[in-house]
Amino acid sequence: MPSESSAHIQNFHKEDSQHRDRSVTNSGGLSLEAYIQRENKHNCHNYHPLPVVLSRGEGAYVWDTDGKRYYDFLSAYSAVNQGHCHPKILKVFIEQASQLTLTSRAFYNNVLGEYAEKITQLFGYDKVLPMNTGVEAGETACKLARRWGYREKRIPENQAVIVFAEGNFWGRTMSAISASTDPSSYHGFGPFMPGFSVVPYNNLEALEEACRNPNVCAFMVEPIQGEAGIIVPDEGYLRGVRDICTRHNVLFIADEIQTGLGRTGRRLCCDHSGVRPDIVTLGKALSGGFMPVSAVLADNDVMDHIKPGEHGSTYGGNPLACRVAMAALDVLENERLAERSEKLGQRLRHELRAALPTDIVTHVRGKGLMNAVVIAPEYDAWEVCLRLKDAGLLAKPTHGDIIRLAPPLVMTEQDMTNCIAILKDTLWSFKDTQGTQN
Ligand SMILES: Cc1ncc(COP(=O)(O)O)c(C=O)c1O
Repeated sequence: MPSESSAHIQNFHKEDSQHRDRSVTNSGGLSLEAYIQRENKHNCHNYHPLPVVLSRGEGAYVWDTDGKRYYDFLSAYSAVNQGHCHPKILKVFIEQASQLTLTSRAFYNNVLGEYAEKITQLFGYDKVLPMNTGVEAGETACKLARRWGYREKRIPENQAVIVFAEGNFWGRTMSAISASTDPSSYHGFGPFMPGFSVVPYNNLEALEEACRNPNVCAFMVEPIQGEAGIIVPDEGYLRGVRDICTRHNVLFIADEIQTGLGRTGRRLCCDHSGVRPDIVTLGKALSGGFMPVSAVLADNDVMDHIKPGEHGSTYGGNPLACRVAMAALDVLENERLAERSEKLGQRLRHELRAALPTDIVTHVRGKGLMNAVVIAPEYDAWEVCLRLKDAGLLAKPTHGDIIRLAPPLVMTEQDMTNCIAILKDTLWSFKDTQGTQN
């Protein structure tokens, strides 16, 4: 009930006024409206941001240009699992940035080897292929899979098929949208990449049927679908995927770009099921939010089919990225962020299920700190997010009715107490104000 948590909210606001950061520099010196207008005038309208202008971040918090503090419940789509501006990553970032940032892979650098050794040992694969953004990691995994399919599975030239799951999201390039089943991603951007097919998510029979086609080289799947709205598959799904891929000699590609690196309560989300994919893609939190860093992990039987000149990226494997990624991985391991994510996530779901009005919030779901609440159709999820913002918590709706709850993993128990109180009171406030319903 709301009354019980109001005290927490009041405490939070008291705390907030103490934490209001007067030193936050509003370097542009503009009002909220002026910042928004300027961005809207000169920047492509390819996002629909919440009306808040942020200028500082630290740990689980961000501050707006007026110095108001918020809990960040999006974590830059899980890129800042380690919290904003983590001091250990920042230190390494500054040190390396003043030594050497980019040489391209035309030459060796003194950091890439150390990074490659570290990341492959941590995740138990023979080799890494370093890229920058998440979608480049997905593209790279697809190229590796096709190449493997032609060389190892003897698929006739240009006939390789990669299977994806309905609702998949792996970025915005032509290949990624060619695999998409969401019209807002693909509509109006054709023609599309051939050789892709789609099966329903969480459906092993359909996957098995698709894999009977001898031209299938890979199945690429998110262990929990993020952008689709935090869709958690049935227990046993990933083990089934592993089994089907093995039986049909198809590569299992796990897109762990959002689910990986502690987000779901394990180092990789696949670890919950004890399965080892043939290819793993990582990104986002691999740099703790400092810069785009992505990676593709695989064993030699897959990776060694790529030879010099056949794939690459000017920035991939640059010394700054490698140093930052090593620091980001160290923070995840040393601060045991996966364990923290598991514990805090269980508490969040348990307390929200017990306390939220079920006619407003129809579902609370997730794993670790990758969670979502589903808002009933009579209520407006955007309006919920606006009220959460006013109460000091930033979250964003997806697909109209789903609100993702994915704070940085460094959040404390006390932070979580405050956030649960904000969520409870905000959602209960809709009971009293019929006027803001849809
Ligand atoms: C599962 C998954 N894969 C790939 C990507 C693409 O990452 P990026 O935006 O860095 O290209 C995303 C982005 O949200 C994602 O959620």
